[in-house]
Amino acid sequence: MRFVESEGENYHPKPGRDRELGFTFSFPVKQTSINSGYLIKWTKGFAIPDGVGKDVVQALHDAMKRRGLAMRVTALVNDTVGALAGARYWNEDVMVAVILGTGTNACYVERAEAITKYHGESPRSGSMVINMEWGNFWSSHLPRTIYDEDLDAESLNPGEQGFEKMVSGMYLGDIVRRVLLKMAEDSFLFGTEVPANLYKPNILRTPDISKMHQDESADLREVAKVLKSILGVSSTPLKVRMLVVELCDLVAERGARLAAAGIVGILKKIGRDGSCLSNRSKCDQGEGRHTTIAMDGGLYEHYPKFRKYLQETVAHLLGEEIAANVSVELSKDGSGIGAALLAASHSQYVNT
Ligand code: GLC
Repeated sequence: MRFVESEGENYHPKPGRDRELGFTFSFPVKQTSINSGYLIKWTKGFAIPDGVGKDVVQALHDAMKRRGLAMRVTALVNDTVGALAGARYWNEDVMVAVILGTGTNACYVERAEAITKYHGESPRSGSMVINMEWGNFWSSHLPRTIYDEDLDAESLNPGEQGFEKMVSGMYLGDIVRRVLLKMAEDSFLFGTEVPANLYKPNILRTPDISKMHQDESADLREVAKVLKSILGVSSTPLKVRMLVVELCDLVAERGARLAAAGIVGILKKIGRDGSCLSNRSKCDQGEGRHTTIAMDGGLYEHYPKFRKYLQETVAHLLGEEIAANVSVELSKDGSGIGAALLAASHSQYVNT
């Protein structure tokens, strides 16, 4: 509303027209048309039971009406799809978009004929975007620890979003806290008393572990600062600080490597991992072409070591030759821009 009020005269719609909106909604939705879809479930710590099963566009329209805003949604998009659209607008090599932020998810461009459960009309382009909701991926092969299990059990959505809980920004800090708590209880890591704050869920956030992990000072000053300001531990031996850094490293590396494995899984699925050379039927004619993965989200943007582990693992899993044709590129705020582009291309006033 404030944004609309701040817009100059040139941007006012012609009389009788509503403003049109691209709506980025970063939760699982059963999409029923370009501008309607109902919420399947909440993720990332949201819990508003009333919203589940509702058309989220209708809900936004109702809310805008209450505020006297003459606007309508012309495109409802998941943030991954927005990121893909935003990046692909500039670069046709973009086949995959990944969000690594509070939550995590990915979408990719698939050949329509490879989508067996789709029975609608074939799209003109021959391809469709699949929103994977990979945050909910689960496999017994995932290296889940007791800390992951406890975090899951105490979360608002136990048994769900297992992959997201091992990878994304909302959870990494709390995994570290849980391990520190165990070490404080069993091995007196912070002295004979366990710091009371260590019992508080989510008190240690991912930006805090990023800060500690990135501390380059000889005496690990930043680590000491975080331990003091957040956990109330006033002095720690250097050895303890080093151990804390090591723990942040382990948790971030695990998350980044899992995300990288997800990306390589997609590249395999669309034949951009070199496998086209041996099996042509599954390919999108893109073999040998450069493939770009558009990335958006604060975890990837603000956590350089996480980013480095992810890039290294993608390259490692693909092998040098194939990796030379694959790049992971940050597309900052790409999801919002992509949603706006999709809204513009679905405008009801096109050609008028
Ligand atoms: C959660 C949501 C998903 C979203 C992702 C990143 O996993 O379920 O829809 O894309 O977070 O924001």
